[in-house]
Amino acid sequence: MRNRMIAGNWKMNKTYSEGVVLAQGLARELEGGTGSVDVVVAPPAVDLKGVAEVIEQEQAPFALSAQNVYWEESGAFTGETAPGMLNAIGATYCIIGHSERRGYFGETDEDINRKAKALMAHDIVPISCCGEPLEVREAGEHVAFVVDQIKKDTEGLEIEDPSKYVIAYEPIWAIGTGKTATADDAQEVCGAIRKTLAEIFGQEKADGIRILYGGSAKPENVAGFLEKEDVDGALVGGASLKADSFAAMVKAAM
Ligand code: PGA
Repeated sequence: MRNRMIAGNWKMNKTYSEGVVLAQGLARELEGGTGSVDVVVAPPAVDLKGVAEVIEQEQAPFALSAQNVYWEESGAFTGETAPGMLNAIGATYCIIGHSERRGYFGETDEDINRKAKALMAHDIVPISCCGEPLEVREAGEHVAFVVDQIKKDTEGLEIEDPSKYVIAYEPIWAIGTGKTATADDAQEVCGAIRKTLAEIFGQEKADGIRILYGGSAKPENVAGFLEKEDVDGALVGGASLKADSFAAMVKAAM
């Protein structure tokens, strides 16, 4: 069985002190625990340490994620963060391949594949994002497009524990636009992703990998997505920036 996951991607929002306040608020909202739901928050890099301290002090029931990583161990890579640096501050997850990184910063599937390997070598769980732009959806080629991303992003990966590799399907046209995909749209692609994972890693592994939906997910619509067979949770942008709305999504998943 796959535990559901609700992950909050703060993107480039919240200063250090604002991030601490948000994490404290979330710890209060979730002080009764999250049942079998895995909860993850992904603050900006400079906020990670502060949020790690809140998690430790409050014994908060959520895990820490970075939003990006570089695949080298150390060296002359100005502005980048190594996987070992994430280990050292207690980040146990890392988002990779977000459409904003692919679109604005030119990240390729090859980069994403290298990042996944580097993270897994450090026992950090990748939350690997995929998803089609509007023109691909309108041309009816979204399933083939995403399957191709999955094949490239997972090439040569060795997955021993399937709970330690997470995929987020985020149709680009639904991110931050208020335009959500329907639950059936999400299931169509998430089902195709699981089928592809089964071809690559075998059915048993594929059945253990969480596939999240992302794109204008909010308290009012998350339950509909979670009802779908191959949707195991949500990657949440805007609605993760307030403790009460994010906690409401966690509770909807419990
Ligand atoms: P959104 O962002 O929930 O604000 O649409 C989701 C994401 O990009 O991860």
